[in-house]
Amino acid sequence: MIRKYTFGKPFPTGAVVRELKAETGPVPYFRVSREEGRVILRLDLSPEEIIFGLGESVRGINKRGHTYRSWNMDITNHTEDKASLYGSHNFLLFYRPDRMIGLYVDDPGLVSFDLGETRLSEAVITSENGDLDLYVIENGSLKETVREFRELIGRSYLPPRWAFGYIQSRWGYTGEENVRAVVKSHREKHIPLDGVCLDIDYMVDFKNFTWKPSAFPDWKRFNEEMKREHIRLIPIIDAGIKQEKGYEPYDTGLARDAFCRKEDGTPFTAAVWPGLCCFPDFLNADARKWFGDLYRPLLEEGVEGFWNDMNEPSLFYSPEALRDCYRQALEQCERVNDYQGMWSLKSSLDGLANSGKDFRSFYHRTEQGRIRHDRVHNLYGAKMVQASAEGIRRCLPGRRYLLFSRSSFTGSHRDGGIWQGDNYSWWEHIRLAMQMMPGLNMCGYLFSGCDLGGFALNTTEDLLARFLQLGVFLPLMRNHSALYTREQEIYRFDSWEKMRDTITVRYALLPFLYSEFMKAALRNEMYFRPLAFDYPEDSRALRVEDQLMLGEDCMIAPIYEQNAGGRYVYLPEDMLMIRFRAAGDYDLIPLEKGDHYLEFGLHEFPLFVRKNRPALLCAGGESTDELDDTSLTALGWMEGAAEYDLYRDDGLQAEPKLEEHLNRIRVEGKPGVFRYTLS
Ligand code: GLC
Repeated sequence: MIRKYTFGKPFPTGAVVRELKAETGPVPYFRVSREEGRVILRLDLSPEEIIFGLGESVRGINKRGHTYRSWNMDITNHTEDKASLYGSHNFLLFYRPDRMIGLYVDDPGLVSFDLGETRLSEAVITSENGDLDLYVIENGSLKETVREFRELIGRSYLPPRWAFGYIQSRWGYTGEENVRAVVKSHREKHIPLDGVCLDIDYMVDFKNFTWKPSAFPDWKRFNEEMKREHIRLIPIIDAGIKQEKGYEPYDTGLARDAFCRKEDGTPFTAAVWPGLCCFPDFLNADARKWFGDLYRPLLEEGVEGFWNDMNEPSLFYSPEALRDCYRQALEQCERVNDYQGMWSLKSSLDGLANSGKDFRSFYHRTEQGRIRHDRVHNLYGAKMVQASAEGIRRCLPGRRYLLFSRSSFTGSHRDGGIWQGDNYSWWEHIRLAMQMMPGLNMCGYLFSGCDLGGFALNTTEDLLARFLQLGVFLPLMRNHSALYTREQEIYRFDSWEKMRDTITVRYALLPFLYSEFMKAALRNEMYFRPLAFDYPEDSRALRVEDQLMLGEDCMIAPIYEQNAGGRYVYLPEDMLMIRFRAAGDYDLIPLEKGDHYLEFGLHEFPLFVRKNRPALLCAGGESTDELDDTSLTALGWMEGAAEYDLYRDDGLQAEPKLEEHLNRIRVEGKPGVFRYTLS
């Protein structure tokens, strides 16, 4: 059951798609107070209470013990002291044996969640705006509560099937020659590949919707050449539009009055990659239409996928903030002998980017009237995604498209996926990437992944190998790295053939993983879940932080520690371990419920399946176009008979009907472990 409570005059975020009448009585469970315009909710937490949710955020799957802030930020260095990342996903589940509450805070401004940091026994949720809708969901189980929430926010985005292929990306691929060489190396070495991302280097001076004529002399022909290789090019589009007369998106944006404006009516500008930029007013329907149509020329040249970036929005500095900082610096330099002067100089420099003052200095023109940016800040990226998705759909009606964004707010899960932003080449970021997935899935972001190998800093061979093993199971499997870091394409490393085997396993599993993804998306379920969702009675399973349920009946347990030769895995029931050793080479090991120390050499990794629920492998291929999912091998552990509903479609139709694409597979035979070829 869902109940809605309204405070003040909330801004319509578009997160919720079901109309509900607001209740008039008090909010159950929470103590609600108003203090200086804020709305504050307090909830007593019992010692055993677990808190799931909050989508993209640092720390563990159980969020208790830290304060998180929904305030979308361009932020590198995802360490555990951080309160915000790029997206805001204000959904929480408070779980203890005798009580379970789902809570969604529909508020596009700053919301903080002190989940037992100040007092371990209390959660304090504060909306700075004080204008919000609150949804309290009570429903028997964790799974059902999430399903009910997902019905409230509408069906998840469906990517095309090719988007589940391996994607190679790097900030620094400058032109055709570069991309061609990367593709050639993959094809020559038989490393499966479906896409190459183009980072800002393809543009003229980092200007959106341009491409360098010298580097890409014939964009259409190059796209066609790549498609013959079964490769899709996936260009980046940033939020800011360079302020430059004669540059069409700037001129037309000005003419259409499509940019955010300051109090004095002039366009707000701040520097990002291209230099000073204007920022499209994505909260304005007319500006969204204008921006969405800018994708058309690229789509007409054959592009079928994009990534949207810098859309928190990221502001390196505004001219106003730079002037303030400069003034302060001069004052502080006069006090150079005072050590505090140096620290305040440093902190004013640090505060230059993404400053609160800048976010309070510009406005949106919405159907609800003019609204200051900070009150709706967290919607900006989501509305950019909406603008692009609508533009793409106008060009490719009835077809699926690839779109993933850095910034997000619940609601954009209907239009695109997300990636987890600028992670580091750190071991702990394998674990963090995994831990974010269930919270993201709760809010409908099923199509997601992290930069495999790590974006910032130099990767290492073993780190990349282990990242890829997690990547096998992530819907978005993309290797991406930053400019000036060590080159990260797998063929740069001695053990590239082993890494190729890992990617080959992804392709062998692809029809199965795609089927699990599509069933989850079309049923408003989760592709990744904490173990607690499936084993709520099992006190051990409730607190597992480094394993996830995948799809209906599988479990993953990635290896994320340096130099590990294996890891402990907790099995909440008897399961079959498929230990992948190389392409087409795996062990099938039945294991009993309980704790196990399992060995995994550097290029080995597991997938666990429940009894009577097989996993399927296909013969593989070097691109998704070449996969043959008509001849499959079922691997499982059965007692009597094993069954599986395989979802199969053309991978492109925009509105598939689940029932029309399910094929029941049934294997009967002697009890025990089996390997069975189906055709
Ligand atoms: C941002 C993105 C990153 C991209 C870079 C250059 O840092 O998060 O993925 O490579 O900008 O465009």
